[in-house]
Amino acid sequence: MKNIIIFGAPGSGKGTYSEEIVKKYGMGHISTGDVLRGEIKAGTELGKIAKGFIDNGQLIPDELMIDILAATYDKFPAGQGVIFDGFPRTIPQAEALKKMLAERNHEMGVMVELIVAEDVLMARLLNRAIEQGRADDNEVTIKKRFDVYHNQTAPLAEWFEKEGMRHTFVWAEHPSKEAMLDAIFAYLDTI
Ligand code: AP5
Ligand code: MG
Repeated sequence: MKNIIIFGAPGSGKGTYSEEIVKKYGMGHISTGDVLRGEIKAGTELGKIAKGFIDNGQLIPDELMIDILAATYDKFPAGQGVIFDGFPRTIPQAEALKKMLAERNHEMGVMVELIVAEDVLMARLLNRAIEQGRADDNEVTIKKRFDVYHNQTAPLAEWFEKEGMRHTFVWAEHPSKEAMLDAIFAYLDTI
């Protein structure tokens, strides 16, 4: 399977659909958010640095994130295909990913963009707060995450467009988890 970059705002379903894609196509999954939360739980130095940024809805500095990503990617068998969930989030991260993969003679693959209205996102994340208690799922921090997404991450969609990698799936056109998955699978079956 080719590499897949799953891209979208907080709560758009990156993690949810990644799990289903992994089940169907048997590939690796890197959620940079999960990696960082794992470091926080384990009480590592990296976790201590990451916590301040995550709790405040801000991005971890690019240099740190890029090193973590490369180290995590190299743990997967070459050629298996990996879903990148939550990375890249800035243009320097995208350029670094492109370089890192080129150095390994691997392709970037495809980008799957999830578009969901902000009121739906907010409702999902507040519901997840009750179910899972993630520290950054409170209204104040969610709003900061939306701002960071709009200002720093959303402009990257154009970068993927120029690379010819961008494939967009709109929640309003497929308004159930199953319908979104059907649309995403119909596309991934062709790559
Ligand atoms: P990260 O963990 O990546 O969080 P996020 O981008 O805010 O996204 P979420 O995980 O909240 O949402 P999701 O799109 O995965 O949606 P989900 O499938 O869970 O990052 C957290 C933080 O880490 C960042 O703020 C930053 O500080 C740091 N970080 C991470 N990567 C970084 C990077 N590259 N550079 C710098 N910093 C980085 O779905 C949400 C909920 O909706 C679930 O409960 C789900 O069950 C529910 N749901 C309900 N209906 C549906 C439906 N129809 N489809 C999908 N989900 C649904
Ligand atoms: Mg997630």
